Amino acid sequence: MTSENSITRVLANKYSPSGAPSLDNFKVVSAPAPTKDSLKENQVLVRNLYLSVDPYQRGRLTGATNSYVPRYELNEPISNFGVAVVEASTSTDIVEGDIVYIKVAPWETKSVADAAAVRRLPHSTIDNARDFITVFGMASFTAFVGLTTIGKPKAGETILVSSASGAVGQIVVQLAKARGLRVVGVAGSDDKVELVKSIGADAAFNYKTCGTFTEAIKQAAPEGIDIYFDNVGGKFLDAALANINFGARIVSCGMISQYNVKSADEAYGLKNTFNILIKAAIFQGLFLPKYAGTQVESDFVTEVGKLYKEGKLRYRIDETTGLENAPQAVLNLFDGKSFGKSVVKV
Ligand SMILES: NC(=O)c1ccc[n+]([C@@H]2O[C@H](COP(=O)([O-])OP(=O)(O)OC[C@H]3O[C@@H](n4cnc5c(N)ncnc54)[C@H](OP(=O)(O)O)[C@@H]3O)[C@@H](O)[C@H]2O)c1
Repeated sequence: MTSENSITRVLANKYSPSGAPSLDNFKVVSAPAPTKDSLKENQVLVRNLYLSVDPYQRGRLTGATNSYVPRYELNEPISNFGVAVVEASTSTDIVEGDIVYIKVAPWETKSVADAAAVRRLPHSTIDNARDFITVFGMASFTAFVGLTTIGKPKAGETILVSSASGAVGQIVVQLAKARGLRVVGVAGSDDKVELVKSIGADAAFNYKTCGTFTEAIKQAAPEGIDIYFDNVGGKFLDAALANINFGARIVSCGMISQYNVKSADEAYGLKNTFNILIKAAIFQGLFLPKYAGTQVESDFVTEVGKLYKEGKLRYRIDETTGLENAPQAVLNLFDGKSFGKSVVKV
């Protein structure tokens, strides 16, 4: 669809307040390519390289206006974190050839942006640009924040991680292992379970074939759970609550099993909350924006950067090629088809 004179765009086509999203929520169109001559002062023309694909985007397609992330506007491009190469610029700070990080990157092959809205990545090349939305991206930062500020891990403790082969989960598994914890990972296929073990989990199981969740957790962690890093919510969270130790911390990071319920009646009602009381547990939601630009972010870059440079951190990436396939990449997050951190190579 894209040629010298045209670009591809992915627009929000309709909202789905409940139930599973579908390709119908998106519209792939072509549009005239922006040109160098159309740039106003302090603007850049960028060619998008990689775009992040994340579960929170589902919420932006509900049409709800009461969330801390704005809904996507209909007939406007979907957006998310991205990296791009600058093709032309009227700014003196950002110049042609720079690789830039864009927090709100529209899903289009080329974009015009204000220079102030993009961040130059000084040591980046086209070859490593993807790292800034993967191993150093939002999901990885989420893992670090949740583990360190809510989980407060101590060597020798046991942590249970759900969606452990996912974008957040893989990092939690490895950071927890590096800090001397016993790590139990859970994932939705045998391949994913193998990956979780290969990155350091002491035990891992497939929640789709394990039988009763409560029993499976008990078997994998007979000593009980000190930290539960919850990415899924629902019935699995309930089973985790049944297995917590005194003083446990529950990091409520995400509830992907509940994002597509058809009605409030279908939402899973927790039964084991009494355990939070009698085990004096802390159950805390993770609000990431609070940590942007703080010391925690610097610590994240230092710790993850060091492990990554030393080859001690592995990160499986699920790369979809072609912007026109980005809608499918979003859907893949919700039926277990994604495997690792999901990105689109534009
Ligand atoms: N609080 C925050 O600031 C913040 C930031 C980032 C992410 N999050 C949340 O953290 C969680 C993990 O995010 P992520 O980016 O790492 O995504 P992810 O885990 O890579 O998400 C995709 C995976 O979720 C699993 N999944 C999908 N539907 C499921 C269901 N019904 N039950 C159980 N697992 C299901 C699937 O793996 P399986 O095959 O293993 O089922 C799928 O491959 C999500 O809930 C996300 O919304 C929160």
